[in-house]
Amino acid sequence: MRTTKVIRPAKLPLSGSAIYEGDALTTLRRLPSESIQTIVTSPPYWGLRDYDTDDQIGLEETLPEFIASLRSVFREARRVLADDGVFWLNIGDGYTSGNRGWRAPDKKNPARAMSVRPNTPDGLKSKDLLGIPWRLAFALQDDGWYLRADIIWNKPNAMPESVRDRPTRAHEYIFMFTKSEKYSYDRLAVIEPNGRNLRSVWNIHTQAFPGAHFATFPSKLIEPCIKASTKPGQYVLDPFFGSGTVGLVAQNLGREYLGIELNPKYVKLAAERLSEGESKIVKIAA
Ligand SMILES: C[S@@+](CC[C@H](N)C(=O)[O-])C[C@H]1O[C@@H](n2cnc3c(N)ncnc32)[C@H](O)[C@@H]1O
Repeated sequence: MRTTKVIRPAKLPLSGSAIYEGDALTTLRRLPSESIQTIVTSPPYWGLRDYDTDDQIGLEETLPEFIASLRSVFREARRVLADDGVFWLNIGDGYTSGNRGWRAPDKKNPARAMSVRPNTPDGLKSKDLLGIPWRLAFALQDDGWYLRADIIWNKPNAMPESVRDRPTRAHEYIFMFTKSEKYSYDRLAVIEPNGRNLRSVWNIHTQAFPGAHFATFPSKLIEPCIKASTKPGQYVLDPFFGSGTVGLVAQNLGREYLGIELNPKYVKLAAERLSEGESKIVKIAA
């Protein structure tokens, strides 16, 4: 495998698609300002999964700390985004653990087994919905992002839940943020077959990806994001690359991709999914 070691304060000049093996914030700090046309990402959930790497986001003890971690990553992402660029953020919600503090290993999904689950955040009660998507959306608005749309990703094949006192959750959000009031958006590239403007509820089946211990994006979820907000040859960034779905869709649509992923196992998985992916891996020194 051909990899290049990047030494610390080095800048990362862009020369085509790349997979950066390293921490999202550290890597973003080295990318040139206003070099990316669109960002599409799905950050780690809070307290749900242990991705088995130091520096991972999602294991913060408190909810405000988790929001603050993501906020600093997205502040840096904002700097690298073109002034007329768009940022698509996929995020789901969850419930307080009721201070159970311990989650039993889940045989079907070993990455879900964690020694500790976060306690119920201050101000919330046992059984409360956390409201993470909107807490994060408001924090990002405070940072200057324009919140342009909240898209509901409806999952017709959502996993059943063993609950009898509330509806089963079958959706996540995709927030569309921009850096400026005016930005690049090609509405005709994502027009509905009946000629209507794209709607804000998207019905898309989830897709399992063998080998990944987390929810991967279905390609269909991110195709409209990339089509509406980039032209062929422009850069699409995913700072939480996982198995590299954003790279795959970008590649198929003739766009350049930049993926950042902390866990070397997932970097390898992503590289295997992308043609010539292995030659694109760049290791980022902490
Ligand atoms: C929800 S998954 C992304 C899945 C991806 N959308 C896909 O389709 O495969 C979140 C990813 O963020 C990575 N991650 C966690 N903390 C990170 C950090 N500080 N820097 C970079 N990646 C991180 C995890 O290893 C995990 O692969």
